[in-house]
Amino acid sequence: MNPVFLALTLQAILLVLGADTELSGTQTDVYKNRISDERAGTELLEPRSGILPKGRFSENSVRFVSSHTASRRQHPATTVRPKPDYLWKVSTPRYNCTRLNTRYGLTVNCSHRGISDISTLRLDRPERIKQLDLTGNLIHNIPNGTWSPFVQLTRLGLGGNLLSQLENDTFTGLGRLEVLHLDGNGLVMTRRNFPEDAFKPLLSLKSLYIYNNSVINTNNVFSSAKDDDDQAYPDWALASLTSLEKLYIDGLPNRNFGMGFKNMTALRYLSMNGYNGPCNLGQLDMGLFENVRYLESLTMKRCGITIGKMHQLVLKPLKHLSQLDVSRNVDINLDGLATLLTGQVNSSRLKHLNVNMVVNPYSVSRCVSFQIASSLPRSLEYLDAALNNLEIVGSRVFQSLPKNLSYLNLNGNRFFFGSYLKDMWKMENLKTLKLNGWIRGYDLPRYFQKDQKRVFSCDYDTDEDDAQEEIVFRLPPKLEHLEMNLADLSLSITNFSIDANNSLKYISAYGNNIPSLVGTIHGLHKLKYLDLSRNNIKSISPDFFYHSNLTFLNLSGNACGSYLYQERQSLRFSDTLRFLDLSNVAVKIFKMDFSTLKNLHTLILNNCNLEYFNANLAQANSLKHLDLSENALYTLDPHVLEAIMSIPNLTLNFSGNRVGCFCDNLHFIDWLVHYPHLMDKNLSQLWCDKDGLITEVKDFRTQFLLLQRECASNLLLLSICTSICVSVLLLNFVFIGYRYRWKLRFWYYSAYFSVWSNDPQGDNCREFGYDVNITYSAEDEDFAEETLADALTAHGLRVRISGRDARVGTCMFRDIVEAVQACRRTLVVLSPGMVSSKWCQATVNLAAQEAFNSGRSVLKFLVWQSVDPARLGTSLLFLIQSSDISFFPPEESWQDGRAMELFWRKLSRGLK
Ligand SMILES: *[C@@H]1O[C@H](CO)[C@@H](O)[C@H](O)[C@H]1NC(C)=O
Ligand SMILES: *[C@@H]1O[C@H](CO)[C@@H](O)[C@H](O)[C@H]1NC(C)=O
Ligand SMILES: *[C@@H]1O[C@H](CO)[C@@H](O)[C@H](O)[C@H]1NC(C)=O
Ligand SMILES: *[C@@H]1O[C@H](CO)[C@@H](O)[C@H](O)[C@H]1NC(C)=O
Ligand SMILES: *[C@@H]1O[C@H](CO)[C@@H](O)[C@H](O)[C@H]1NC(C)=O
Ligand SMILES: *[C@@H]1O[C@H](CO)[C@@H](O)[C@H](O)[C@H]1NC(C)=O
Ligand SMILES: *[C@@H]1O[C@H](CO)[C@@H](O)[C@H](O)[C@H]1NC(C)=O
Ligand SMILES: *[C@@H]1O[C@H](CO)[C@@H](O)[C@H](O)[C@H]1NC(C)=O
Repeated sequence: MNPVFLALTLQAILLVLGADTELSGTQTDVYKNRISDERAGTELLEPRSGILPKGRFSENSVRFVSSHTASRRQHPATTVRPKPDYLWKVSTPRYNCTRLNTRYGLTVNCSHRGISDISTLRLDRPERIKQLDLTGNLIHNIPNGTWSPFVQLTRLGLGGNLLSQLENDTFTGLGRLEVLHLDGNGLVMTRRNFPEDAFKPLLSLKSLYIYNNSVINTNNVFSSAKDDDDQAYPDWALASLTSLEKLYIDGLPNRNFGMGFKNMTALRYLSMNGYNGPCNLGQLDMGLFENVRYLESLTMKRCGITIGKMHQLVLKPLKHLSQLDVSRNVDINLDGLATLLTGQVNSSRLKHLNVNMVVNPYSVSRCVSFQIASSLPRSLEYLDAALNNLEIVGSRVFQSLPKNLSYLNLNGNRFFFGSYLKDMWKMENLKTLKLNGWIRGYDLPRYFQKDQKRVFSCDYDTDEDDAQEEIVFRLPPKLEHLEMNLADLSLSITNFSIDANNSLKYISAYGNNIPSLVGTIHGLHKLKYLDLSRNNIKSISPDFFYHSNLTFLNLSGNACGSYLYQERQSLRFSDTLRFLDLSNVAVKIFKMDFSTLKNLHTLILNNCNLEYFNANLAQANSLKHLDLSENALYTLDPHVLEAIMSIPNLTLNFSGNRVGCFCDNLHFIDWLVHYPHLMDKNLSQLWCDKDGLITEVKDFRTQFLLLQRECASNLLLLSICTSICVSVLLLNFVFIGYRYRWKLRFWYYSAYFSVWSNDPQGDNCREFGYDVNITYSAEDEDFAEETLADALTAHGLRVRISGRDARVGTCMFRDIVEAVQACRRTLVVLSPGMVSSKWCQATVNLAAQEAFNSGRSVLKFLVWQSVDPARLGTSLLFLIQSSDISFFPPEESWQDGRAMELFWRKLSRGLK
């Protein structure tokens, strides 16, 4: 029964094990299959998700293409304009003009349609059209009567056509026209091309664009156009434009604005711009602006104005001028500028002056002299004087600048540090100062400068006392806004004081080279905005920004990252700060003191190489926007998540990170997917770090679901596996325990005895307290205890009867072990009862074990009743064969005392 049970158990175990391996095999197969499914899935998904964005993209591109074609061909059916703007889809099948409602009213756009004959253009309901754009066509002729249907037309674009001549009737019927573009045609300004009555119908015209029509040489400002050239400003034709306010025209050399302009009493704005069309004014005569006295704004940009070729009173007639732009006339030079402005110096109107690049960019550096400063119109408020090679400022300059100057743009000059800075504060009303650098992108020089002789001297009246003063900057008291971007500043900000009487609120100084911010800076109490981005800042004193009233601080794109994360120097910011940008800073691990940032609204840590974000945000209760995008974050600490959750409505940008896509991180991914105020709700730009393999994930939510399922099945697999393993182990233990229960007991008791080996009995054991231990089965009790034991005792042996206290079928193991160990020999009474008694067999086994362990020949068999060898079992048979064996004399000799005596003597001798 037992072997059967054992065999069954074993088989069951094997089955289970096999099934287990098979099961795990199938599991892994399933797993693999699923993975490959997933792969296939992602492969499937990728094209699908590829299709999706592609679809979206292609939609976009369709739209883009359509808008493109719309812009090119004006295909109305596919224009991207918002729907309500549509009125008619197709105005004319021939040219596909678009018909939209814009802020100027119904607009028909027929630009760039290749229209050459305007009479073929048939538009629906022309009487409703307010604006008509015919730019960039091939129109060369406008027949009488063309405009008569357009009774409401207010804006007409005819730029970039092939008109070379106007007729008396070209604009007939455009009495309500307000804006007319004729630029970029071939309308050379001659009497023939501009007949006297050409503009007569344009009773309401306010703006006229006729620039880029002339053919003049602008290449060399020193060679004036031929005097016999019959080009001139067509005042004879323009004279009828009595409501014209703005005129955009080419600048002709040596031509004045003629008598006809006198009749244009509404003209306020005159623009000549060498960037839009030819402009070369040649000699500026005193009479140039005689007939345009009411001008308020005059632009002469890049018009070849040259020093020495101007009458100093040329601007004198312009009593109403409030805005003057003479920028990009690189040959005016500073002293030429003083001459040019002579007529305006006492103006009470001129407020805006633009003199950008009036000095040749390839000339030597210039000094801002007293003469220049005092030649500026006294009413000036805004001065643009960028790119003039200015380097130093002469004496008495600041106090001779116009008193009301509030805006000064000196970008792209070459100022260097000098004692003139001591007088800066004398610009009493200056609010904005720009000292930015410039990306120099101007044309190459065309000729060598003629005027290198006269350069204003730049004497500076130094103070009489030679004692060196400690620098305490006095800023212009009203200066609020200072820009020094890209200004080639290369210095460390060290201890430095500014006079407290200042209003400076805003400093922008990005793109310089400021290796360290040491401080302390004194005096900038009102500073709120500071941009020090891209300055290659490597170190910042921990408290540099702490003692300030800053609300905006931009430190992006610096190198101070390594500095920021060192704990011992943890950077402190002032608690007034609301915006802090630390993006593109090379930080590896981020440890910073956020506890002062109680008012922080926006924290940008974009693209900082952050691998770990452990900020203590508990105090940052005002935070509204946290940008952690484009880092290498794979998770966020639970306490950070907690802090984020505790701040109401905090927008988080987490895109472009490498989220760890493994089961341990599932709680974070779960959090991320469900965080309500995520910037990129679609999580479209996340990366997935899966066992070091970083892949871009198109659809993170799907990925999350897959991962969730995977982790769940992993868990299931794990639990199945664990339970199987545990049960297999248990079964194995049970099996082993059952199989070796005797041995285990023996070991137990051996151990037990060796532990108690110093008790006297144990000593006895070692000294073999008994000579022989008799083992027998219960059936043989009488024989063993009386006959055998008595006879052996009688022959001088100390006999121990191990079974004396044992009940049938029970095993007193302790007894047996004790017996085996305490005695020299174990005598086994062999009988059928003995063979079937487990207990006795155990004794035999133990004795054999002891014999094996101790090297003694312990076992001796006495065959009391004959046993069928087939029932003995192999181990017992083996033991019997390898041990001493005696046969008890047959029953007939029991009465033979001598024979018995002989037997006993022989047996006891064998046991000694
Ligand atoms: C007409 O279309 C062109 C190309 O799309 C565009 O540049 C132009 O501004 C449009 N004209 C008007 C008046 O809207
Ligand atoms: C006008 O638009 C239609 C519809 O999109 C297009 O098929 C046709 O080629 C266009 N015609 C011209 C002249 O651009
Ligand atoms: C233009 O046409 C109108 C009528 O349509 C006519 O009165 C006028 O004389 C014509 N002008 C010229 C210059 O032909
Ligand atoms: C244009 O009108 C003016 C004056 O009305 C006249 O002298 C001139 O001959 C006309 N030109 C043409 C081409 O009709
Ligand atoms: C001047 O007009 C021509 C012809 O229309 C054009 O190609 C060119 O781009 C225009 N120049 C400027 C500066 O707009
Ligand atoms: C300018 O207006 C005056 C009268 O105000 C007139 O006599 C003169 O002819 C006009 N000039 C031109 C060129 O139309
Ligand atoms: C911040 O502003 C207050 C009030 O204008 C001023 O008293 C204080 O000195 C300023 N703090 C710093 C550090 O400049
Ligand atoms: C958060 O936003 C919701 C909806 O925009 C708004 O109703 C709620 O008042 C906001 N909570 C806080 C504390 O600003």
